[in-house]
Amino acid sequence: MGKDVIIALDLDSRSKALNFLDGFSSEKPFVKIGMELYFAEGPAIVREIKSRGHKIFLDLKLHDIPNTVKRSMARLAGLDVDMVNLHAAGGAAMMEAALEGLARPGSSRPLLIAVTQLTSISQERMERELLIDRPLEQVVMHYAKNAAGAGLDGVVCSPLEAGKVHEGCGGSFLTVTPGVRFADGEMGDQARVTTPARARELGSDYIVVGRPILQAADPVAAYRRCVAEFTG
Ligand code: C5P
Repeated sequence: MGKDVIIALDLDSRSKALNFLDGFSSEKPFVKIGMELYFAEGPAIVREIKSRGHKIFLDLKLHDIPNTVKRSMARLAGLDVDMVNLHAAGGAAMMEAALEGLARPGSSRPLLIAVTQLTSISQERMERELLIDRPLEQVVMHYAKNAAGAGLDGVVCSPLEAGKVHEGCGGSFLTVTPGVRFADGEMGDQARVTTPARARELGSDYIVVGRPILQAADPVAAYRRCVAEFTG
């Protein structure tokens, strides 16, 4: 399982997303559809991209009471996506309910991945605004263990944390890692970055790559370079 490059389709319309995917002729990349594209185009865009043969990570980061999340996950499972996510901060009961909602009789369910702490939350903010005064790294690992305990398949984390997550939650617990840049590329707003090759060495299972591919002069070549470096 795993070891794939997921392209973050951070685009705001169907036409931009399909134009981008039209550039690929010989491969069908795994893509991430986030809130921007989903809220612009709704479930139809998910069905359309799926029908073109792509695997889909639907990145909607659910966080609500268990019953609501369970029922919502059942709708997402019906879209036939391959990976979905939620906030581990919603608690173990919510995560377990999400898994129940995703179950598809007679076929495999989408992978369920947890967000631990958003990378926009610093130690200082976490203490001041959320009143959590433990070290951030400990909080992230604790949430990851809660997710593993609830039966989830993995977490979103930095490639730099992938080894620790595998140590604490088991080698088959998936690490889905953004923050990837080519050695000769722009950092954008990502503070801590690694190259695809380094992400592989650190044990990432999936890398999520947006701008280094979307904004490349030749996106297909950039995607191929990512795959070559990451899957070695
Ligand atoms: O353009 P870039 O490669 O930075 O895109 C990374 C993608 O991963 C974006 O869709 C971003 O929202 C997502 N992401 C992230 N950091 C996280 C969680 C998700 O960059 N901690």
